[in-house]
Amino acid sequence: MERLGLDQPIIVAPMGGATTVSLALAACEAGALGFLASAYLTPDQIREESRELRARTSRTFGNNLFVSQPPPVEPANAGAALDHMARFHAELGLPPATLPRFTGDRFEEQLAAVLDGGAPVFSFTFGIPSKAAMQAIKACGVFIMGTATTVDEAIELERAGVDAVVAQGSEAGAHRGTFGSAFEAAMIGTMALVPQMVDAVKVPVVASGAIMDGRGIAAALALGASAVQMGTAFLTCDEAGIAEAYKEAILKAHEQDTRVTRAFSGRPARGIVNRFMEETDGAADAGVILPYPLQNMLTRPMRNAAAKQERADYLSLWAGQGVRLARGQSARDLIARLVEETEAAIVRLVGEDRKPA
Ligand SMILES: Cc1cc2nc3c(=O)[nH]c(=O)nc-3n(C[C@H](O)[C@H](O)[C@H](O)COP(=O)(O)O)c2cc1C
Repeated sequence: MERLGLDQPIIVAPMGGATTVSLALAACEAGALGFLASAYLTPDQIREESRELRARTSRTFGNNLFVSQPPPVEPANAGAALDHMARFHAELGLPPATLPRFTGDRFEEQLAAVLDGGAPVFSFTFGIPSKAAMQAIKACGVFIMGTATTVDEAIELERAGVDAVVAQGSEAGAHRGTFGSAFEAAMIGTMALVPQMVDAVKVPVVASGAIMDGRGIAAALALGASAVQMGTAFLTCDEAGIAEAYKEAILKAHEQDTRVTRAFSGRPARGIVNRFMEETDGAADAGVILPYPLQNMLTRPMRNAAAKQERADYLSLWAGQGVRLARGQSARDLIARLVEETEAAIVRLVGEDRKPA
C-alpha cells in the first residue's frame, strides 16, 4: 500500500468485458487501486484507455493481460460445435455460426501498449510471461502482480520476480488462473489458500475470491493478506460495463447458483448457471466445446447479441460464490461502505479500546 500510495487495501479487479475507465477511475479516486482490463483489447484500445485514465487521475492504477497460451489444437471436426450453436443463433436472430480461425497470440503487442500507456502496476493471469517480457516490464519500473491458485504457483511467480501475488480462491468469479496443474486440482478456497501462501512467499499476498464486504476484507487481512482484490462486488456498480440483465442475474443469485464451466470460452471459469451453460455442459461429451480461445471466439457473436437484447440465458454471467452479498450502487459509495464495514469488523474482533488507528 505504501509503495503504491493506496489509502485502502482494496483492489477493484481487472474484469475483461466489464471494466470501464469510469470504474477504474472511481476506484483510484476513492484511494483504492483501480485496474484497466486489457486482455480482450487491441493495442490501440489499450493505449486509448490508458491515456484517458491518466488524464483523469493522478493516482496509481494498474493494467492487466492474459499471458500467452500455446496455440489451440485445431479440432478435426468442429461440426458438432457449429450445430450446437445453430439453435441459439436462430433464437437471437443471428446468421449461422462460422468456424473461428486462430490468428495468433497478441500478448507481445498488447504488453508494448500497456507499457506505453504508463500504468504503474501490471498484473497477469493464466501463467507467467517470458523472462524477456518480465525484464522489459521491470525496466519500466512497473510493480508486477501475478495470479496464483496454489502455493506452488505462488512460489513460481515469486521466483520469476513478481512484486506481489494474487491468491485466487476457488470461489472467485470468471476464469481460473491455474497454470501449474489441472484446474480441478487447484480448486482451493480463499480461506485455505491465503494463509498457506502467506507462509510460503516473502512478497505480499492479495486475497481474492468471494470477498464481498468489510467482513471479508477484515478476514482476509487477519489471514495475512496485504490487500484484497474484488471482482463480483463491483459488477453491480453503476460504472460496470455489463448488460442490465447480467446485473439483475447477480442481484437475484444465491451462493449455490454458480458453477465452473468451459461452455463459453473453452477455459474453466465460474459463472451463474443459465440455459446456454446447462445445455452446452450437458453435451460436452459430444464435442460441442472447442479449445480456448476458439470457443470464446465461437460464442462471442451470441454473447454480444444477447447483451444488446438483454437476454441473460445466453450471456457468460461470470460471478463468484459471494453473489448473494452483491449490492447495487456507485463504486465510490461501495468503497466508502467497505471501509466502514472493515473497521466495524475489526472493532468487533479486538474491541473498541484496541481499535487500530
Ligand atoms: C466478470 C469478471 C471478469 C474478470 N476478468 C479478469 C481479467 O480480465 N483478468 C484477471 O486477472 N482477472 C479477471 N477476473 C478475476 C478477478 O481478478 C478475481 O480473481 C475475481 O473476481 C475474485 O473473485 P470475486 O469475483 O468473487 O470477487 C474477472 C472476474 C470477473 C467477475
